[in-house]
Amino acid sequence: MAETPNFKVTIDNISIEVPAGTTILNAARMIGGDVAPPAMCYYSKLKDSGGKCRTCLVEVSKGSEKDPRPMPKLVASCRTTVMDGMEVKNLTSDKVIDARQGVVEFLLINHPLDCPVCDQAGECHLQDLSYDHGLEKTRYDFPRRTFPPEDIGPYIQLHMNRCIMCFRCVYTANQLTDKREHGILDRGEHAEISTLLGKALDNEFIGNVIDVCPVGALTDKTFRFKNRVWFTKPLDAHRDCPTCKGKARIWMRGEEVFRVTARKDQWGEVEEWICNDCRFHKKSLKDWVVEGPSNVSRSSVISQGHYVGTEKSQVLIDKVIGKQPRMLLNIHDVSDVNRKSVHLSEIEGPAHSDDFKKN
Ligand code: SF4
Ligand code: FES
Repeated sequence: MAETPNFKVTIDNISIEVPAGTTILNAARMIGGDVAPPAMCYYSKLKDSGGKCRTCLVEVSKGSEKDPRPMPKLVASCRTTVMDGMEVKNLTSDKVIDARQGVVEFLLINHPLDCPVCDQAGECHLQDLSYDHGLEKTRYDFPRRTFPPEDIGPYIQLHMNRCIMCFRCVYTANQLTDKREHGILDRGEHAEISTLLGKALDNEFIGNVIDVCPVGALTDKTFRFKNRVWFTKPLDAHRDCPTCKGKARIWMRGEEVFRVTARKDQWGEVEEWICNDCRFHKKSLKDWVVEGPSNVSRSSVISQGHYVGTEKSQVLIDKVIGKQPRMLLNIHDVSDVNRKSVHLSEIEGPAHSDDFKKN
């Protein structure tokens, strides 16, 4: 069989040789660091993913050695393959930075700004993207798209209002399980992730949709509201599992295992899929052989969380959002999060699982 030729591509003035057929995004990942564009829908482990969110747009300033004309528009780097001699601008292009800001603004048009009560906070790719490329305030005055709550089973919580329609969970369910029961219903503004005929997702690998979701639209009901991710300590651990390879990350606080997830690489992608049993039922340290602290390579609040000598912000809410809030509600008595007897603003130190309602 003929060997795949290597193509030379230059991204942000750094040249690399990659096999023909490599996408610009993957070539940029081979260079590493900030040269790699952000990706909210592409997932290297999921066939056909990508091309939905446009966060990975780049400028191709030289098409190839043979045809050096620049590409007329910005292109999705996760779906565009390199050509020999191609020159690409990511961080070095004002057009890209401007377009990325626009994409983030569009993603946030419907995404609720509920990070303070969202379990994904601290490890949300949209949150990171907004810090890097978002505006300080919204220009959008219309009501956000909302969906009635839907129960999709005992282990996975669907918050459709937070979904950015990246399709990753649908590809995961399609490619990992043989009886997919959820997908995208309807189109455009009305499109939503849902289960057909209200069926629960009970496949033994379906929990992986939680890990691939870049936002807090799919979260783990067995961990929900029990702790903030930056108060927990991630450890790499394994167990002898008859269903999956049993290589996971356990998130501890003290002696308690609060949640189990798959291990993720530097791009935030799952290294090995894990089964529901490991994820949802093995919540005791005795179930696991601990290998050591996880390497949290993405810049993340998880690696911080030492809140010594903090000062209260003097910034007022209207200064942050640019207008007076229409109303402020005290949701303590109606919240289905914390126990009524516990006032989260009055407890000593960070909240613990005992402060929250059990699922
Ligand atoms: S639920 Fe999450 S993974 Fe699924 S499409 Fe929405 S944002 Fe993507
Ligand atoms: S990551 Fe390329 S379009 Fe979403």
